[in-house]
Amino acid sequence: MVADVESTLIDRAQIALRVHDLGRELARDLQDELKRENDPEGHGRIVFVPILTGALVFTADLIRELSLKLSLRVVAVSSYPGTSVESKGAKLAGELPKDLAGKHVVIVDDILDSGQTLGLIDELVQTQKPASVRICVLLKKPPEVRKREVKAHYVGFEIPNEFVVGYGLDYDGFYRNLPYIGVLKQEAIGKG
Ligand code: IMP
Ligand code: MG
Repeated sequence: MVADVESTLIDRAQIALRVHDLGRELARDLQDELKRENDPEGHGRIVFVPILTGALVFTADLIRELSLKLSLRVVAVSSYPGTSVESKGAKLAGELPKDLAGKHVVIVDDILDSGQTLGLIDELVQTQKPASVRICVLLKKPPEVRKREVKAHYVGFEIPNEFVVGYGLDYDGFYRNLPYIGVLKQEAIGKG
């Protein structure tokens, strides 16, 4: 598996440091928000919404940086058919959590690419009238690749327009378990 990786874009230590900092930033902003509302305890109003499957690894590390009372509600998105390395458009697979009204929602994804996935989930979450919505991504590709405008409030790393794998990101379902972000060898694309 590791033989399929051409190069490391972001190593394990860099990810750990950045995730730690993102966690601190998020904790501070959420705490400020609760204080403004005179609800410092939050009473279970902070809800993280990871988008499966790519956000799984990132979310697991991120939430452990936050010592806040929070809950998790996963959502699943599937792509329309197309080749594995292209953005294909998103549709909801399964259900959206129904109890987000009045909550402080943090939508988490692995990467902001065309923006279709996060655009869709943001739109669906907003219809429930949450108290606030934040979008947090580990990676963000350049604005030229966007097909839909999405504001990501928290971004781990801005990366070039390259297809990357690892730390939750896959190629045809594989490589999610790599502890770093890497670029695949050309010959591994197509092999799966
Ligand atoms: P978007 O809807 O085009 O923004 O893409 C979002 C989804 O496409 C992400 O959640 C990823 O699952 C997948 N994706 C986009 N770019 C990459 C990449 O470089 N490597 C692996 N998956 C990617
Ligand atoms: Mg994904």
